[in-house]
Amino acid sequence: MTAWLIRGPAPYGGEPTDLLVRDGVIAEVGRGLSAPRGAHRLDAVGLVALPGLVDLHTHLREPGREDAETVETGSRAAALGGYTAVHAMANTDPVADTAGVVEQVWRLGREAGLVDVRPVGAVTAGLAGERLAELGAMADSAARVRVFSDDGRCVADAALMRRALEYVKAFDGVVAQHAEEPRLTAGAQMNEGAVAARLGLAGWPAAAEEAVIARDVLLAGHVGSRLHVCHVSTAGSVAILRWAKTKGTRVTAEVTPHHLLLTDELAETYDPVYKVNPPLRTAEDIAALRAGLADGTIDAVATDHAPHALEDKETEWGAARPGMLGLETALSVAVLTLVESGVMDWRAVADRMSVRPARIGRLGDAGRDLTEGEPASLVLVDPAARWQVDPAASASRSRNTPYAGRELPARVVATFLRGEPTVFDGKALL
Ligand code: DOR
Ligand code: ZN
Repeated sequence: MTAWLIRGPAPYGGEPTDLLVRDGVIAEVGRGLSAPRGAHRLDAVGLVALPGLVDLHTHLREPGREDAETVETGSRAAALGGYTAVHAMANTDPVADTAGVVEQVWRLGREAGLVDVRPVGAVTAGLAGERLAELGAMADSAARVRVFSDDGRCVADAALMRRALEYVKAFDGVVAQHAEEPRLTAGAQMNEGAVAARLGLAGWPAAAEEAVIARDVLLAGHVGSRLHVCHVSTAGSVAILRWAKTKGTRVTAEVTPHHLLLTDELAETYDPVYKVNPPLRTAEDIAALRAGLADGTIDAVATDHAPHALEDKETEWGAARPGMLGLETALSVAVLTLVESGVMDWRAVADRMSVRPARIGRLGDAGRDLTEGEPASLVLVDPAARWQVDPAASASRSRNTPYAGRELPARVVATFLRGEPTVFDGKALL
């Protein structure tokens, strides 16, 4: 393994220093370090160093929809976005509801070698919401699953949700809920509100999300289990989570970059690239989500990277699948909405995009501090760079980014996974 002397980056945007990386760990931190013989040098003056980002919510589409994404292409997009670990959602075909499927995804991740791919196991067999999947076998498998989710669908049955919460306690797992009361969202196309009324589209009411979150925090509190709430999108959800946390409930939550930036007014374009579940909400919701993330009510930014093939996305709004790409733009959108807006500093960004998601997923060697002896999984970001999003340049197999043509701040220059660069000079190495 080669050593790297990374000269002059600012860890967490603080004082510049040098980092010596050797044998997969940060061997030394300090100014004016000299490079050992044979070490590579990387001039990182002016760059911000953060621990490698950890995504709690990534759709990699393999097995089953390799035309939209594969473990390898999604891993490459992740590395380019500054990630060193991602949680691969279970709504594949076949569904990741057995030890066999999660081990397959985990192995494909290892073979790609770009990020640590941590499979999420389904909560219910086939995502059908009727009986529990083999949670224990997935936890015991080589993939060591700790996060379970039917994401894309809600575990709507309260008794089944309670049983899942109780079950995962045995192995310190967490149930990640896609909070959407299906009876309230039948036929929904966008956020229920003034814009939907104007466009004549059926809406997802905020209450459909909030009702499930309220129910589930009560359940999690009652049985003493860990609950994680996926892609929180409304001001009311933030208020419920804030209340639950004051009660000591073991609940964590995530918000996506797109819910921190984009509003439902974009539906007026009828461009299905803006169709997503949960839907884009209002400016008031965005303000509450940013504040909730800043005060720790929301623990993490998670991408909900949802690649879709052209024929599933470039069709009329009603027929298009919900979901948008996120891995390659997440950090830039976080910088735009949180750092440049003054809501958070770089250390808080590292906390919400690396430290806390790693803890929620129980990843022992991710989300660690940039100090001596810790794994050298880190990202170097140019905070002054601005770049224009070009869907054709994406490493993803899909093109459904809502930021096409937009200028975004901050660019990932290099990503290291346990001491080895996966991205260098803004380009993937594998
Ligand atoms: O927009 C979404 N897309 N929301 C989900 O919950 C699922 C995801 C997908 O799998 O495409
Ligand atoms: Zn979801």
